[in-house]
Amino acid sequence: MELEQIKSQSEEAESAALAALNAAATVSELERLKPEILGKKCPLRQLMKLLGQLDAHLRPAAGAIINEAVSRVERAYQDRLDHLREAELEKRLIEEKIDISLPPSFKATGTLHPLTLTVREIERIFVSMGYEVATGPEVETEYYNFDALNIPPEHPARDMHDTFFLAPGTILRTHTSPVQIRYMRTHKPPIAIIAPGRVFRVDDIDATHSPVFHQVEGLLVDVDVSFAHLKGTLTEFLHAMFGKDLATRFRPSYFPFTEPSAEVDVQCFACRGTNAECRICKGTGWIEVLGSGMVHPKVLENVGLNPKEVSGFAFGLGVERFAMLRYGITNIRNFYENDLRFLRQFQQRW
Ligand code: DAH
Repeated sequence: MELEQIKSQSEEAESAALAALNAAATVSELERLKPEILGKKCPLRQLMKLLGQLDAHLRPAAGAIINEAVSRVERAYQDRLDHLREAELEKRLIEEKIDISLPPSFKATGTLHPLTLTVREIERIFVSMGYEVATGPEVETEYYNFDALNIPPEHPARDMHDTFFLAPGTILRTHTSPVQIRYMRTHKPPIAIIAPGRVFRVDDIDATHSPVFHQVEGLLVDVDVSFAHLKGTLTEFLHAMFGKDLATRFRPSYFPFTEPSAEVDVQCFACRGTNAECRICKGTGWIEVLGSGMVHPKVLENVGLNPKEVSGFAFGLGVERFAMLRYGITNIRNFYENDLRFLRQFQQRW
């Protein structure tokens, strides 16, 4: 056996080991290779067994050749291990990095209720005509709710069967009309307001009635306000709300706080008067949507205004009824039951 033979076998084993460790693509693959290329029985170390076949004086040199080769493989192994560990850490850091440029995943935040949407539409139309939005309390005095509005003590609406009494003289407001009184007591004409809000009546729930519902009151007071202003304003409003092609109609009516008074109808959007069996308008061709009238002189006097100097008109509407007409809803209960299958049909958020 020659030294040269040992040397070439050592080189061969070394380069096989180096090729193997360089081919390892992951830390665990490399670690699995370790016994094979650096273990006690690896080909390189096995060469030591051949030393016995050499002349004694050649053995130290041959041993040194093999040992140096083992050292190089060990160093290469360590370098490769460091490199792969670093690469894997780098990869993990990139994968686990929080990408703050991604949009957040939104929780369901809900959408606006159809009654809110309807009130907002009414507000939008009147605000565009220069009206302000006013509010008043839901717990009201009998005086503001009835007396100041010229509703006499014996009026049936004041009955316990109709009105929720909280204490003598204190009630849940039955309509939004008391906001008229509160506003006129604290503001001077010209006045142009609408007052949306919740109202309460002793009523059993059915398809069109609820003990809690919503109204929007309107009031305009200035010098020389006439019925023509009332008619023009409400016609404009109803056209904006329901479309210009539906006719409107004013019918004489009675309210204690207006004189003269009128109820306002809109042509039936479903049949336009062509179906005697129409369930929406009950075959009349018209749907009643508003109460209105010229503010009664007594009401003006009750708030300290002189009916010879100023005049005004007022109106009141039911929000549920408007929303039912607007969206084709036939049962008022839908508004209050919070059934998501109903509510999800209204996707507007603001
Ligand atoms: N307050 C009335 C009601 O609840 C509605 C109403 C009718 C209001 C005529 C008005 C009006 O301002 O002029 O039935």
